[in-house]
Amino acid sequence: MGLLGKIAVLGAGNVGGSLAQRLAEADLAREVVLVDIVDGLPQGKALDIQESAPVLGFSTRVTGATSLDAIAGAEIVVETAGLARKPGMSRSDLLSKNAAIVREHALAVKAKAPGAVCLVVTNPVDVMAQSFRETSGLPAARVFGESGTLDTARFRWFVAEALSVAPRDVTGFVLGTHGDTMVPILSHTSVSGVPLTRLLPKERLDKIVERTRQGGGEIVNLLKAGSAYFAPSATQAELVRAVARDEHRLLSATAYLGGEFGERDIYIGVPVVIGRGGIEKVVEVDLNPEEHEAFRASVAAVRADLALLSHPPSAA
Ligand code: LAC
Repeated sequence: MGLLGKIAVLGAGNVGGSLAQRLAEADLAREVVLVDIVDGLPQGKALDIQESAPVLGFSTRVTGATSLDAIAGAEIVVETAGLARKPGMSRSDLLSKNAAIVREHALAVKAKAPGAVCLVVTNPVDVMAQSFRETSGLPAARVFGESGTLDTARFRWFVAEALSVAPRDVTGFVLGTHGDTMVPILSHTSVSGVPLTRLLPKERLDKIVERTRQGGGEIVNLLKAGSAYFAPSATQAELVRAVARDEHRLLSATAYLGGEFGERDIYIGVPVVIGRGGIEKVVEVDLNPEEHEAFRASVAAVRADLALLSHPPSAA
């Protein structure tokens, strides 16, 4: 698989900047371009990352731009732009403001990089991925979102910590939406093949599930201002690498369902195979009745947000 020409990262905040650094260091493309509306921010971060190249040994050219023209011809586009909720801002405000940004970027991709595989990470990610796909008109396989990959990383770490085993030996899935109703799938979690349910008692597992569900909030509470970006950018880079190197990774990501898991016309976290064309396949793993019920509740939460976006409550 040859080196990619260009990867575009939209949004040069903590997530976008950190992701651009990880992508450059992984030497996945000839160029990584960071785009943001705040003049100086993408150029400054790009130059700062670029100047580490002689020491770290990567060859990627890292550039920054304020114009969306810079994404022209990108083979992969990562959407990280958007606002975080501020005091006094309703969920519906956040939804509509971020949807407006995501739609503008989706139209730019349609016009300037129509062959791209697009990874959406702007929150609420399941709804934003759906919005991006509808506005861009790109095939569903080429638009997906990062959610489960991050939630799964947190879940795997908590399990590894509880068992004092190597984090990489813990494998499993967190499915459903990237929110309170996400569904860690204990029935498919193992440590190098040994089922997790044999290794930890139910009370410990319940605590790990709860901590995973609150994983993003735990970091926000610690930081006081801002949210996580080290683990998010690591899992985003894992997804981008799967596309760039055509790895056929089986990971959890927010993908379009056209009947799989009994759901249709919705983006939500499911196990998928990811390669150069984006989502190659949704893998319909068996869920036990409890997990299936929790997954359905998660789908309902995303449908409620989609309804809120298409019919916002009138301003009081
Ligand atoms: C998190 C937010 C950023 O889970 O989605 O950390």
